Amino acid sequence: MLSASSSALGLRRALVLDRSAPEAAPSLFLREVPAKQPAAGQVVVALRAAALNRRDVWIRLGKYAGIRLPAILGSDGAGVVTAIGSGVSDALLGREVIINPSLDWGSSEQHGGESFSVLGMPSEGTFADEICIAAQQIVDKPRHLSWTEAAALPLAGLTAYRALVVRGRLRPGETVLVPGIGSGVSTMALILAKHLGARVIVTSGSDEKCQKALSMGADFAVNHRAADWDQRVQKWCGRSLPNLVVDGAGGETWAKCIGLLATAGRMVSYGATAGVATLDLRRLFWRHIDVLGSTMGSERDFSEMVALFCAGSLRPLVDQVMPLAHAASAFDRMEHGQHMGKIVLAIHDTV
Ligand SMILES: NC(=O)c1ccc[n+]([C@@H]2O[C@H](COP(=O)([O-])OP(=O)(O)OC[C@H]3O[C@@H](n4cnc5c(N)ncnc54)[C@H](OP(=O)(O)O)[C@@H]3O)[C@@H](O)[C@H]2O)c1
Repeated sequence: MLSASSSALGLRRALVLDRSAPEAAPSLFLREVPAKQPAAGQVVVALRAAALNRRDVWIRLGKYAGIRLPAILGSDGAGVVTAIGSGVSDALLGREVIINPSLDWGSSEQHGGESFSVLGMPSEGTFADEICIAAQQIVDKPRHLSWTEAAALPLAGLTAYRALVVRGRLRPGETVLVPGIGSGVSTMALILAKHLGARVIVTSGSDEKCQKALSMGADFAVNHRAADWDQRVQKWCGRSLPNLVVDGAGGETWAKCIGLLATAGRMVSYGATAGVATLDLRRLFWRHIDVLGSTMGSERDFSEMVALFCAGSLRPLVDQVMPLAHAASAFDRMEHGQHMGKIVLAIHDTV
């Protein structure tokens, strides 16, 4: 936490990605940086917890478009409103909130607009004691969630909701395939799809993660490192092949996922952790397969996702909670795929 003297000086503690010298690789530094005063329409949120996403790791590795340094990363956060700018209702003061990381989505529900961006580079993100952000980005923290769980929800919950429900048009009783269940978004997809009455098949490169997914309600789990994993899925499904795949992995497993879809099935792709995917187009047209892209979501998607979590008393899967000061270990854990679910950074001791 900031010392009293630091606060009095108008400073806040932030994890800054920066270079120590012009030629040095970017590193994470815990620094004191100037606190921000809320402008018109903005609020200051004192963060209790933040959570990592794969994009934070891509940015640290220099593998993300438009990197600007120094940067305060972090797209997920939960905390308490401590200050408001002009034009903002003072009823928000003291409110416990989570932050919608989809910035400037725009007016269309079909897709994000020209100005769309993700919180945390180039805008200042949540890996800090506090954040100054437009009041429209905050939503009441679901009461049934701890600070840790609340911070885990926003980006992955939003991405999973839009991919499954808005783009994927998931209906109760359908079968959905979720590859790479260790991923933060994938675990949200599993939780949401089971809540919505779907049958869920997952894959993982880890037998332990397969077991964990089964304990969370997955109906079938298979290790995608086995060369015949798709045949095992096919055998288990019998005639009821997956109607929907929600995939953030890409790579070699992608074409196999398409091959597993039932006639008129939908493949929703939101990421490419395992790299470029190639596809024999004949697998698409004969069986009337839809391939759909999905990124984050609109304000409406965010509200609907939070409402669904509240209605079902659903909880995100938290992998580990680490102090902000140990963020580098958290980044390493995600980079090496050791996690299952969301890695959370505790900003204050109260989490
Ligand atoms: N478009 C968007 O709005 C959006 C939003 C969020 C994330 N993303 C992207 O989506 C991806 C997932 O994000 P995340 O934050 O959930 O990532 P994450 O937590 O880092 O998850 C990565 C997981 O990918 C799985 N994986 C790796 N190689 C695989 C393969 N060959 N086949 C199947 N699964 C494989 C692994 O699962 P196992 O450990 O189970 O093997 C790994 O744990 C990232 O590429 C991210 O950039 C996009």
